Amino acid sequence: MVRSRPKIILSAAMTIDGKIASKSGDSKLSSKKDKIRLHKLRSKTDAILIGKNTLLRDDPLLTVRYHKGKNPIRIILDSKGEIPPNSKIIKTCNKIPTIIVASQNISKKNLNRLKKLPLQIIFAGTKRINIQKLLKILFKQKIQTILLEGGSKTNWEFISKGFVDEIVITIAPIVVGGQTSTSLVGGEGFLNMQKSKKFKLKNISKFKNEFVVHYSKL
Ligand SMILES: NC(=O)c1ccc[n+]([C@@H]2O[C@H](COP(=O)([O-])OP(=O)(O)OC[C@H]3O[C@@H](n4cnc5c(N)ncnc54)[C@H](OP(=O)(O)O)[C@@H]3O)[C@@H](O)[C@H]2O)c1
Repeated sequence: MVRSRPKIILSAAMTIDGKIASKSGDSKLSSKKDKIRLHKLRSKTDAILIGKNTLLRDDPLLTVRYHKGKNPIRIILDSKGEIPPNSKIIKTCNKIPTIIVASQNISKKNLNRLKKLPLQIIFAGTKRINIQKLLKILFKQKIQTILLEGGSKTNWEFISKGFVDEIVITIAPIVVGGQTSTSLVGGEGFLNMQKSKKFKLKNISKFKNEFVVHYSKL
């Protein structure tokens, strides 16, 4: 099959009850061993993509640190260009390739601020970010594999449109509960199982007290 968009691998660490963060937004779930596995996977991809809330909540670096390998390009969905100047992503964008994806909804002030930084700004969409458009642009830039690292809203955007090719989930031996805790995939949700997206199990590996489950699109 000839591809017209990058391959998307959804990656997350999840509790037994399907949450990726507690109701306060705490997402520290995985072990050191799992971080090594994740960073190995990161080093094999062209880019890592996250939504703005994950950036605001976790302030991640999105680099390869627990394994030797190249850093992928970091892609942040931030339609209004509100990424904080003191975030780790902005502080390191002179060293690690970074893309901010905005929509036409961005203010002049935020755009001018971002334009002064050594990063790429991609416009995709008028109000919201149009994921299909974005993937076309990224593919043209030779980005062939993207590790989708959440959060919940962003995962839904990709899942609902059928853009997720593989899912790699670490199941941590934790139950956190809570109606407002963040689940792996949020958004509107499908009405019934018939409409849901289907995957097939490719592999399961056991890491001491954790499971890593690997699915691919049916
Ligand atoms: N355990 C794990 O592996 C893991 C991994 C990642 C995240 N998390 C947790 O997940 C939580 C954040 O998840 P979240 O669902 O609140 O937010 P999110 O998916 O990280 O970010 C959503 C935001 O991204 C922006 N965005 C722009 N275009 C979008 C589009 N087309 N689709 C979706 N989002 C778009 C929107 O902000 P604008 O409208 O301003 O553009 C939107 O509100 C945090 O607590 C984080 O710690 C856990």
